[in-house]
Amino acid sequence: MTLAEIQALVIAAAKAREAAYVPYSHFAVGAALLAASGEIYIGCNVENASFGLTVCAERNAVFHAVAQGERHFAVVAVVTQNGVTPCGACRQVLAEFNPQMMVIVADTTGNRCIYNLAELLPHAFGPEHLNTMQ
Ligand code: THU
Repeated sequence: MTLAEIQALVIAAAKAREAAYVPYSHFAVGAALLAASGEIYIGCNVENASFGLTVCAERNAVFHAVAQGERHFAVVAVVTQNGVTPCGACRQVLAEFNPQMMVIVADTTGNRCIYNLAELLPHAFGPEHLNTMQ
């Protein structure tokens, strides 16, 4: 991953964040996923008057990509005002497709941190723990 590629992904996530529908929390999140194909898939959080139906930006990006036939993601970039890491539910959904994914978190002033998803979700439950033959 080059610095230019990291920057391109963060810019895509920041642009996706502009579309966030956040009338309740006012906490806009943008995500951009780099698929093994080289394509970038974006997502933003979409809230709902029935609060529990809100979907996070990261999961929207994953579901968008999977609907386009993608199954492997090398990197995700997430942009928020304060550069926070993805929530637990999103970590689990990201780990389904690559437990070693690179996770770039950025704030709106340009600060960035890079994690490996395994650091954020240690001892993860994953598809390998299901034995569907029993
Ligand atoms: N949110 C995300 O989009 N991603 C996360 O990883 C954490 C939380 C959204 C959900 C809700 O719309 C708002 O941020 C406040 O929780």
